[in-house]
Amino acid sequence: MSAIATPLAREPVLSLRGVNKRFGAVQALTDVHIDVAAGEVVALVGDNGAGKSTLVKVIAGVYQPDSGDIRFSGINVTVGGPGEAQALGIATVFQDLALCDNLDVVANLFLGREDLAGGLLNEVKMEKEAWRLLRTLSAKIPSVRIPIAALSGGQRQTVAIARSLVGDPKVVMLDEPTAALGVAQTAEVLNMIERLREHGLGVILISHNMADVQAVADRIVVLRLGRNAAEFRVEEATTDQLVAAITGASDNVVAARAERRRTDGAEAQLEEGNSDG
Ligand SMILES: Nc1ncnc2c1ncn2[C@@H]1O[C@H](COP(=O)(O)OP(=O)(O)OP(=O)(O)O)[C@@H](O)[C@H]1O
Ligand SMILES: [Mg+2]
Repeated sequence: MSAIATPLAREPVLSLRGVNKRFGAVQALTDVHIDVAAGEVVALVGDNGAGKSTLVKVIAGVYQPDSGDIRFSGINVTVGGPGEAQALGIATVFQDLALCDNLDVVANLFLGREDLAGGLLNEVKMEKEAWRLLRTLSAKIPSVRIPIAALSGGQRQTVAIARSLVGDPKVVMLDEPTAALGVAQTAEVLNMIERLREHGLGVILISHNMADVQAVADRIVVLRLGRNAAEFRVEEATTDQLVAAITGASDNVVAARAERRRTDGAEAQLEEGNSDG
């Protein structure tokens, strides 16, 4: 008789170990690791040049790592190019979105993947599928037959996210999806990220906005100077801790000054307390 099975720790759907990437004299990534489980949102944060986009592009097959392992669904893989990433089930929404302004929503969703029935575009089927994808995201798009040029920034982001879902990926990566958006549109995009999690996707979210990260992420991975600097469960990270990890608290002038101010403030309070007594 077997003992009562201990529940397995959830195996990550995507797992990188010891990833290195150099551009000429610049070591962009050094021994980097990251895991994403199904139904988990992992925020990837770090200062400008920390290596976030490089890491995403390694996963997306845009760059080949110099060394390191990528496991996807429990199997070691080589992601030879963006097409291979897509075929595996790794989708990416790059910061520039790469939408065609003059084409409508349906055309953008299925660009390069048009459903051809008997040599004709199966417009009815694609339109149906477009609505299904938008519903999956609880997205607010008035019509799928208007050109992208007529949409707001948030709606464009919505179309780009919906497009990443064509082909049923297991992992979606979003590079700064809220950077150019206002408050309401940001809230909508964060909502969509929650929908992705609900549907069991693993999500990697790059963001400079700590409020967004803390609102939607389950785990936060901090890169600094191309290395893993820290990792937090979202509920155990304060904004101060995050900023300290991003900037490298101990060797950072700004953080050191903030720390000095805090201790100075505490001493002043102490003195005040003494003179009161
Ligand atoms: N194609 C490239 N050729 C040469 N150097 C590059 C290339 N791409 C990135 N780098 C360098 O690698 C380092 C990491 O850059 P990366 O774009 O990954 O940072 P990031 O964390 O995405 O920054 P940001 O927040 O500014 O987008 C930087 O020093 C950058 O200059
Ligand atoms: Mg970047």
